[in-house]
This record gives sequence, C-alpha cells and structure tokens, in this order.
Amino acid sequence: MEIDKAYLGDCIKIMKEFPPNSVDLVFADPPFNIGIKYDKYNDNLSYDEYSRWSERWITETYRLLKENGSLYIAIGDEFAAEINIILKRTGFYFRNWILWYYTFGQNQRKKFNRSHTHILYFTKDKEKFKFNSEAIRIPSARQLVYKDKRANPKGKVPDDVWEFPRVCGTFKERIGEHPCQMPESLLERIIKVSSDVGDVALDPFGGTGTTAAVAKRLKRSYITIEISENYYNAIIKRLIPPP
Ligand SMILES: C[S@@+](CC[C@H](N)C(=O)[O-])C[C@H]1O[C@@H](n2cnc3c(N)ncnc32)[C@H](O)[C@@H]1O
Repeated sequence: MEIDKAYLGDCIKIMKEFPPNSVDLVFADPPFNIGIKYDKYNDNLSYDEYSRWSERWITETYRLLKENGSLYIAIGDEFAAEINIILKRTGFYFRNWILWYYTFGQNQRKKFNRSHTHILYFTKDKEKFKFNSEAIRIPSARQLVYKDKRANPKGKVPDDVWEFPRVCGTFKERIGEHPCQMPESLLERIIKVSSDVGDVALDPFGGTGTTAAVAKRLKRSYITIEISENYYNAIIKRLIPPP
C-alpha cells in the first residue's frame, strides 16, 4: 500500500490489496443510488444490488481501519437508514448521525427543496478513538448572542447539525464538471477532529479529491481511489502543489 497516492480503479478491488489496520480515518461519499450522472459509474442499481455493494465496500473499510480509527459516510435520505444498519452489522460503533445542512439546495417543483445530507459517524472501537475537540471549537451562542461572561472563551464543540454551503458551479473552489464536490470546510472539520498530523486518511470514492487535498493541506497522509479516469486526472491535477 502506498500512501499519499491517488489510485485509479474500483475501490473494493484496490482496498482488498491493502493490509489490515493500516488507516486512521475513512471518509466516504459514495454514489447515493439516485440516478446522478457520473461519467463512468451507473448510479441506478436495484435496491438489493446497491445494498450488497455497500456492504462489500464497508466491510473493506472496517478491515483497513486501525483499532482506534473513525469512519464518516455521507449518504442521502434514500439509503441512510440501510447504511446505518450495515455499519452496525459490520461491527462499527455509532457515535453521531450528523446532518449537513447546506445553503444553495437545488430547487424542486413538486416537493420541498432538499437541503441536507446525512453524515454517519462511527468508530471501530467503543471507547478508543481520537476526538480532538480543541481543534474544531466554534464560537458559542453564549459568547456571540448573550455575551455571557461564563462562556468558555475557546468556544464550543459544534452541534450535530452542520451548516456549510454546497460547492456550486460558480464557486472558486469548484473543480471541473463533477456533479457532487464536497466543500473543503466540511472535510476540514472531520479530518481535524478524528486524526492527528501524520495519520492516514482514506477516501474510497475520490470524486474531485476533496479529502486528499484537505488531508494534504492539514499535513495528514492520504489515499484516495476513483473509478473514472477523467475524475482521477482532475484529482492528480488538484494535488499538484501550485508553482
Ligand atoms: C459522490 S462522488 C464523491 C465526491 C467527492 N466527495 C468530492 O468531494 O469530490 C462519488 C464518486 O465515486 C466514484 N465511484 C463510483 N464507484 C466507484 C468505485 N467502485 N470505486 C471507486 N470510485 C467509485 C464516482 O465516479 C464518483 O466520482
């Protein structure tokens, strides 16, 4: 297994070649099985196919995580409940069901606009895991609204509803034509709280390479895997340091 590397290919096949207990953190943002148009992957599997496939890649992440490792999975409404059950069946311990609330949701005509994604946070061990709360504190309402002198000057640990804007087409952060790029700010919180400098973060569904790019910036090592050659090439470009 090489670290600080983007791999081109199928994540299950590639993960199977890695040794057990070798990564500290997994962040996975798989296709949600809702018919998104990716250039290679078919995001329209039957219920059973998608469930079985999810179980296979989740089992590999469990094998690869160190005993004190953490895992976060971003998932849509359609399969959040199923993925939660698969994680528990695999042996992971539940910590939080985080809701990422985003501004700039897509407008709908015949239902309410969707403005959230679930982020399921689990650990491999019930007691032993990293949670660097000091690294992710944010200003509290006590500080900002009530100007309460008893407020912790360092702020508070964020709630389990997170607000970050979605990366829209016009954003400077936007990389190419990929349909679902995650914001760096969201990955920054996850990587800071659940890993230390020098740790290894794995993302089996690289997309535009957000996890790898943020891990690199925060001095963590990364492994990312992407099945599409076009997206893989964009990841490689994103990871090259600016001149
Ligand atoms: C939701 S996107 C990830 C977006 C990513 N979080 C980002 O910020 O850019 C899912 C990605 O998984 C890729 N993919 C689908 N099946 C895969 C597989 N079996 N192995 C590796 N990558 C896969 C798709 O091509 C797509 O780019």
